[in-house]
Amino acid sequence: MESSVEIGFLRVTEKAAIAAARTMGYGKRKYSDQVAVESMREELGRLKMRGTVVIGEGERDKAPMLYVGEPLGRGWTEGEIYPEVDIAVDPLEGTNLCATGSANAIAVLAASEKGGLLNAPDIYMEKLVVGATAANTISLDNSVVENLGRMAEAYKRDVNELTIVVLDRERHHDLIGQIREAGARIKLISDGDLSAGISAAVRGTGVHGLMGIGGAPEGVLTAAAMRCLSGRMQGRLKPLEKWQEDRLKSMGFGDGKKVYSEKELASGNDIIFSATGVTDGDLLRGVRFFGGGIRTSSLFMSLKTNTIRFVDTIYREDGADLAVSFV
Ligand code: FBP
Repeated sequence: MESSVEIGFLRVTEKAAIAAARTMGYGKRKYSDQVAVESMREELGRLKMRGTVVIGEGERDKAPMLYVGEPLGRGWTEGEIYPEVDIAVDPLEGTNLCATGSANAIAVLAASEKGGLLNAPDIYMEKLVVGATAANTISLDNSVVENLGRMAEAYKRDVNELTIVVLDRERHHDLIGQIREAGARIKLISDGDLSAGISAAVRGTGVHGLMGIGGAPEGVLTAAAMRCLSGRMQGRLKPLEKWQEDRLKSMGFGDGKKVYSEKELASGNDIIFSATGVTDGDLLRGVRFFGGGIRTSSLFMSLKTNTIRFVDTIYREDGADLAVSFV
């Protein structure tokens, strides 16, 4: 991918985060999502690429924008010199978190060369995510106790010194019981297993793993991040209702028993991942508005160039005589 397109993706998540952050605490999750979607679509449309949405807001008939299959970018009208790019977006991950001003809402996208991101159905996925330190230890086919034991060994500590993030959902009743039984600490979150998964792969966040069932689209985005961070992820599509089973079959995923690695979920060699904080979180600060400018905090990574950037950006208002502060 050209570097101008690459860096353009950073601006895309920054702008979407700013749009969503303006609605923080309004209590209108759909509205917050909508403004992030509109912003992301506009910014993606400016890039010199022939982009196609492979993970988006849903199918064309249900999502007016950023629907799966939607063409984006200047290349579709200006000519074939621009590269074909597959794009996975979650313009506002944690719509409730933004609506209530809670921690860890982010604007996210991943991009890759054509075919490099799995076009996963919009159903659930069972996930297990760890960072590079514990990369070769886990398997969704192991028991929870076994996975935790191996993770503790890799981190050279006791199981009770591990912290595992789990979405606070009724469906996780047994899982939570097993983690407690094994002795690990649990951080229950109301939403946002994508940012939690990323935190598990970054030392110093105090999170060692993510377990449980969340959205499959978020799973593909997490996998793209894991490729860039050398983290490990396993995911198994999880139809919880009859229509989801039908959807799996109609999309050619069979019975959904297959366990996918991060490399199968995000197989590209030229993966870009960009996430910008909307509200303050474990890894990223939220958008800050102040007289004369706006400040954003992002994680921007490229697998091909092997770069992981924590980016702090200030957008100055035109003509603002702004004294920039260090933090
Ligand atoms: P939204 O951003 O669409 O609100 O999703 C938030 C989220 O918590 C994800 O992080 C998670 O993967 C999924 O929802 C879990 O779905 P559910 O709320 O149905 O359990």
